[in-house]
Amino acid sequence: MEDSVFKPYLQTKSVFKEDRDILRPSYIPENLPHREKQIDQLASILATALRGERPSNVLIFGKTGTGKTAVIKYLGNEILKADEWERIHFIYMNCEIVDTPYAVLQNIGNRFVQDFDERIPFTGWSTERVYNILREKMDEERRVVVIVLDEIDKLVYKSGDDVLYHLSKINDDLEKAKISLIGLSNDLKFTEFLDPRVKSRLGDEKMVFPPYNANELRDILQQRAELAFENGVINGGVVSLCAALAAQEHGDARRALDLLRVAAELAERSGCDRITEQDVRRAKNKVELDCVLEATRSLPTQSKLVLLGIILSEERGSKRLTTGDVYSAYKELARRAGTGILTQRRVTDLISELDMLGLVNARVKSFGRGGRTKEIQSSVPMLETKKVLEKDEVLSGIKNYRLKFQTTLLVHE
Ligand SMILES: Nc1ncnc2c1ncn2[C@@H]1O[C@H](COP(=O)(O)OP(=O)(O)OP(=O)(O)O)[C@@H](O)[C@H]1O
Ligand SMILES: [Mg+2]
Repeated sequence: MEDSVFKPYLQTKSVFKEDRDILRPSYIPENLPHREKQIDQLASILATALRGERPSNVLIFGKTGTGKTAVIKYLGNEILKADEWERIHFIYMNCEIVDTPYAVLQNIGNRFVQDFDERIPFTGWSTERVYNILREKMDEERRVVVIVLDEIDKLVYKSGDDVLYHLSKINDDLEKAKISLIGLSNDLKFTEFLDPRVKSRLGDEKMVFPPYNANELRDILQQRAELAFENGVINGGVVSLCAALAAQEHGDARRALDLLRVAAELAERSGCDRITEQDVRRAKNKVELDCVLEATRSLPTQSKLVLLGIILSEERGSKRLTTGDVYSAYKELARRAGTGILTQRRVTDLISELDMLGLVNARVKSFGRGGRTKEIQSSVPMLETKKVLEKDEVLSGIKNYRLKFQTTLLVHE
């Protein structure tokens, strides 16, 4: 151990108490400050299940990090605790993971299959058959089944609303069992893609979780900080700064907790046993960079080519690009990479998408006699982003490529 490269890191005192997962999103605290009203309202709906009746279906909306998942998981635990006769089944699914009608039905169905040999297989059956087994098995006993579809919008965008149609209608075909659906989403628009009947059935009750303000975030962080850190590791300024920074965006508790966790990790890594406001600022930069790189990594290949085109043009010194410039750069890269070449119109759409993701900044500029064009600039750190882009298999062939075409000159008054 004497000369081990790990030695300095093993010796430093940890700023965390034993369980560092307390600051991770998967941790559900014993109470959820500033969600008392929403919890009450949902409890009054779900209490019906404890009387053996079917609760209304509920749709819950709210921006990311407003506590939807945390509240519903918390209520799931509470309802199982209160369920003396064990008549309630609480089934939670995240539709980003369970994202096809087959998988959703299989997942629900297998909760009611006791015998291992009778389990519904991962693939191979018709959806119809899975649905029939599910209905049959579920209906063997008197019970109330509460099904939570978290990120329900992902399911709808990927597979349409067929499965929701069947699930929301299933009560008509059940004699003993009753089911109730709870959908969670951070996207208000997805209901436009639902059949009107599905939409009205799912939305018996609708709730919106508002974003947290800075004071509320501070309470949430304070609670977690007390659980996560040793005494004296953190001061009030650190918690307030994390809360204020997260509130500036849209009141996202996940972002606030991320800032605190990353600040703690940075402090720890530099061998300090206290977390300072400076660490929070460093954490903010790191979290932001990680977000940008993650967004870049998950872009479709054609969008990656567009973004790379913008970065390479800028690298060559063209600071204000028109849509035409970006298109020329894109075409050159797409040709080199051997992918198909999209139309300029489609590329214009991709630029708007990159703009929405915050990876580029596209402003409409008017110039000269009523002419209008977009002025496009990247808003990503070039070196790091380029590295991520070049990791894409399709783009790896154009590593270190230099553009040949010339940009047009934008004339500004
Ligand atoms: N009122 C609260 N009290 C304590 N912790 C909270 C509260 N609200 C949210 N959190 C914590 O913030 C993080 C994000 O919350 P959650 O996952 O519930 O957000 P969400 O609304 O489901 O977001 P998304 O739409 O992105 O899924 C979690 O770690 C959660 O425990
Ligand atoms: Mg969630």
